[in-house]
Amino acid sequence: MELVRPLLVKREVRAEVTTMRQQTDKSVTLTLRPNKNWQGLRAGQFVNLSVEIEGVRETRPYSPAGSEHAAGHALELTISTHPEGKVSRYLRERARPGMIVGLSEAQGEFVLPAQRAQRVLLISGGSGVTPVMAMLRTLCEEGHAGEIGFLNYARSPELALYDAELNALAEGHKNLHVARGFTRASAGAGSPGDPRLGDSRLKGRFDREHARAVMSEYGEAATFVCGPPALIEAVRAVWREDGLQEPTVETFTPPAPHFNALQFDKEQATGMVSFAASGREAANSGLPLLEQAEDAGLTPEHGCRMGICNTCSCRKRSGTVRNVITGEYSSAGDEQIRICVSVPVGDVALEL
Ligand SMILES: Cc1cc2nc3c(=O)[nH]c(=O)nc-3n(C[C@H](O)[C@H](O)[C@H](O)COP(=O)(O)OP(=O)(O)OC[C@H]3O[C@@H](n4cnc5c(N)ncnc54)[C@H](O)[C@@H]3O)c2cc1C
Ligand code: FES
Repeated sequence: MELVRPLLVKREVRAEVTTMRQQTDKSVTLTLRPNKNWQGLRAGQFVNLSVEIEGVRETRPYSPAGSEHAAGHALELTISTHPEGKVSRYLRERARPGMIVGLSEAQGEFVLPAQRAQRVLLISGGSGVTPVMAMLRTLCEEGHAGEIGFLNYARSPELALYDAELNALAEGHKNLHVARGFTRASAGAGSPGDPRLGDSRLKGRFDREHARAVMSEYGEAATFVCGPPALIEAVRAVWREDGLQEPTVETFTPPAPHFNALQFDKEQATGMVSFAASGREAANSGLPLLEQAEDAGLTPEHGCRMGICNTCSCRKRSGTVRNVITGEYSSAGDEQIRICVSVPVGDVALEL
């Protein structure tokens, strides 16, 4: 039955691609219809999407961009391609209506609070527009009466995602103020914006004036930022200077590894890694435990492979690990660790 109707599986969440479109030369937008096992999501959360590429199951997190109230639980994903990216390029080149993908349940704490704030400020850069777009669409669909500001940054107008949708929403919702920033020097920053919106273009990179352009009382807003680390840091700096509460933030970008961490661990690798549940054992290769588990023939749950999504979280029974991002050691015996960013230092036993 599964071969004929691949969405009819007992427990797994799967979804069928129903439509695809290309907003820019470097992205693809897919609409997915999940099967009956899907439990729904809150605007801003992400799902781990799995596809099989050359016989290997690859999983990556993506944040749906649609409203949390979307009819039939339809999910909209916008995937920006990375030059060397396995999954993003595969989806852009190969995704077609009828294709079946695996999905996890929705996860993540980057969400609108159940009690909506009166003023909401949404700031995004590049592919980070997706979760804040979901928040915006959700608020608009709920008829949110308070003020909403939306600041969106892209390198150039050609790479800007959801431009037409933002214009349409701003036209239909007088409480919504949208502005764009284009960060590539040659992008003509400061030239007139969409005539229907007046001059919605901003000059340069994020600063206090940009926040003021969409919301004069931005300090009173619940603020959500998703984008590259530089954008997040710029917003945090203004919020700190103004004595405001930390904005809620998320990034899709892998954190830079701690100086020489991986090299150090490969050279110094000693001891054995044991996987208790499967009864396997292997000599420590100095790679992150997720890779060592895969090399040992295991298929641990994972998403981002960069220490962000927490999907790979696993119980360590004993031993010391080193976090490749922070460089910190942890030798607490029994603890949950993210195996995609944890390298064993000597003998380590995992519950896998
Ligand atoms: C919570 C969360 C939500 C996400 N939501 C979205 C989304 O809605 N839309 C979207 O397009 N992406 C999103 N991402 C990023 C996405 O999961 C993948 O990282 C991205 O699609 C690249 O995967 P890939 O297989 O093509 O690249 P890979 O084959 O994994 O990597 C290829 C190369 O690109 C680099 N790379 C990988 N990911 C990134 C990245 N995010 N930024 C910069 N360099 C990278 C790697 O270091 C490597 O050199 C999200 C990430 C997280 C953590
Ligand atoms: S796979 Fe996302 S934190 Fe490890």
